[in-house]
Amino acid sequence: MLDAEVRELMQPFVLSDYQVQEVYSRFCLEVARGLKRSTHPQANVKCFPTYVQDLPTGDEMGKYLALDLGGTNFRVLLVSLKGHHDATVDSQIYAVPKDLMVGPGVELFDHIAGCLAKFVEKHDMKTAYLPLGFTFSFPCVQLGLKEGLLVRWTKGFDCAGVEGEDVGRLLHEAIQRRGDADIAVVAILNDTTGTLMSCAHRNADCRVGVIVGTGCNACYVEDVENVDLLRADFKKTKRSVIVNAEWGAFGEGGQLDFVRTEYDREVDEKSINRAEQLFEKMTAGMYLGNLVRLVLLRALERKLIFKQSSRRPEFAGVLQRNEDVFETRYISEIEDDTFPEFASTRKIVRNLFGLEKASVEDCQTLRYICECVAKRAATLVAIGVSGLVNRTSNRRVIVGMDGSVYRYHPKFDAYMRQTLQKLVKADKEWDIMLSEDGSGRGAALVAAVASKSK
Ligand code: BGC
Repeated sequence: MLDAEVRELMQPFVLSDYQVQEVYSRFCLEVARGLKRSTHPQANVKCFPTYVQDLPTGDEMGKYLALDLGGTNFRVLLVSLKGHHDATVDSQIYAVPKDLMVGPGVELFDHIAGCLAKFVEKHDMKTAYLPLGFTFSFPCVQLGLKEGLLVRWTKGFDCAGVEGEDVGRLLHEAIQRRGDADIAVVAILNDTTGTLMSCAHRNADCRVGVIVGTGCNACYVEDVENVDLLRADFKKTKRSVIVNAEWGAFGEGGQLDFVRTEYDREVDEKSINRAEQLFEKMTAGMYLGNLVRLVLLRALERKLIFKQSSRRPEFAGVLQRNEDVFETRYISEIEDDTFPEFASTRKIVRNLFGLEKASVEDCQTLRYICECVAKRAATLVAIGVSGLVNRTSNRRVIVGMDGSVYRYHPKFDAYMRQTLQKLVKADKEWDIMLSEDGSGRGAALVAAVASKSK
């Protein structure tokens, strides 16, 4: 049985029906404000047009390179589109050293170009002409398919000299500086766009793409008449365009203050992008573990966990010293654990604190804390998804999803569905689909569709 005091501790994370409805209304309003030219500058859900206007048919063919920057790893991929909704992907992961994440931008792009050159060499493609799709998962103002100005860094990146610049050009210049391969950057896209495209490649009803990974964001298909910022010449021939919502920034105008907790405020205050990406800080993998860590500290202070142990101050010390010590993946592992053995939970507790035998009660308390933090994240994501699904003109809507939190958390999908059931309009038929390598396959598809429409 859970202690009533533990329930009380977690109460601020439990969203009431009223709060869910209210966040939903505020979110929908911000989307509408982001789309409108007159309110766009003040809106915090920016709704950037991506210039991707054609969804894949499944018949796309050809070999494409893709780069994926913006999660925990940097990847180079070779994607072979084979028609018949089929594709194969060959990829290589490269580390992005911490100092490159916050160093001069030129060094970051030189590193990317260097990894790309190694990959091309290894695959014996140095002499081939290769079109490349660049999945760059940060907020960008797109001026066209292959030009994107970085608005701001997120997720712990902060490289000087890139904000306000065209990342397509920076990549192109870095490739030229090396001069060892014939690679053309044909498209810049967000990972959410890649996810939508890769799901649409399999299921023609996909209209929304969502990432809940290191960061959190979504895109969706909008009618061109509603997208004031789309250049007029792009409205003549096509009826719709993918809009990158950049919903991570939701709440920067105070809209979420009525549900944010003291722990959310602390996560924000200690981050390198204070007062920015507030919705993201309540939903994304980069922050969820840290939220659990802060709640655990409070639980220790109030003697709500590890009551039998005299080493509580020492445990608190472990949690205080390093804000990344409680990894987000532990949340998934703990929620996946079996009662009453709690083998994974006990292992995590042993590794963190050197505590050999956590009691069943301690494990249940820890699990409840994780559950509340994850469930709130899933509820908030589902509120956003509902807002976007309800905006699309289709009756049947598939939501393409990706990201480590969604993929590995055992109940994230189920939590999301509970909220979607409440908020999606009754006349819509919806489902969620897991994306298969959106950042790679999606980038190739954007590149392929771009070449086709030319
Ligand atoms: C970025 C988005 C991205 C999301 C998921 C956020 O921090 O602003 O552009 O889609 O992370 O990677």
